[in-house]
Amino acid sequence: MLKNSAESFGLISRLLHWGIAGLVVVMLSLGLRLEDMEPGLANLWLYGLHKSLGLLTLSLMVARILWHLYSPPPRPIGGGWQARVARATHLTLYLLLLAIPLTGWIGSAATGIDVVIFDRWTLPTIAPVSPDWEALGFTLHDALTKVLILLLFLHMGAALKREMDGDGTLRRIITGRAHD
Ligand code: HEM
Ligand code: HEM
Repeated sequence: MLKNSAESFGLISRLLHWGIAGLVVVMLSLGLRLEDMEPGLANLWLYGLHKSLGLLTLSLMVARILWHLYSPPPRPIGGGWQARVARATHLTLYLLLLAIPLTGWIGSAATGIDVVIFDRWTLPTIAPVSPDWEALGFTLHDALTKVLILLLFLHMGAALKREMDGDGTLRRIITGRAHD
């Protein structure tokens, strides 16, 4: 029940999928608000929240990858070009959800201000303090989040389309099994 099988999604993979999906929605909304702000004392906590939840997302993505190496996801339902596009989309979503928090962290570290998460842990500085690194980190962070938003629309649209076709794909990531 916890592990995946050749046909079904186990509980751990489903919790990771929906937990991370929820975090990503919160992170995109928070990020798009920060984009229009100037950092100051009044909104510093929002930046802190964005960084903390972003690092949590990164940790859960690493956990998800390790889990899927140990317990591979089920075979796709159906085949053909749709299955290939779905696979490529999933792979790109994984890469983006590693690269986006890392570029946010790089840009933040390059400002020279300590990256402190959950008001408690100071993260290692993973980039030199330099305006160039800051610009590089945040330019990539910004561009990659736009790609993520586009792909998520594709991902959700495809999931809803398949639900309407009734092939059990959406049901399987919610309840574990495609059919009773
Ligand atoms: C899944 C994780 C994350 C998502 C989806 C996300 C999303 C976003 C989005 C959409 C923006 C607005 C676009 C922009 O100005 O770049 C943004 C801005 C920002 N993000 Fe993230 N982010 C994530 C993780 C992180 C992490 C881990 C950090 C730092 C440790 C971070 C630091 C920042 C900062 C400082 C800004 C404001 C940049 C500016 O003012 O130009 N983000 N984020
Ligand atoms: C919002 C952030 C989301 C992200 C980052 C995301 C990411 C992913 C990834 C990477 C997979 C591949 C399975 C895995 O290896 O874990 C997957 C599977 C899936 N997702 Fe999402 N997802 C999100 C939201 C949603 C939503 C809102 C829906 C439904 C409308 C959905 C429906 C599905 C379905 C049906 C599958 C199973 C595909 C299959 O059986 O091959 N996802 N998702």
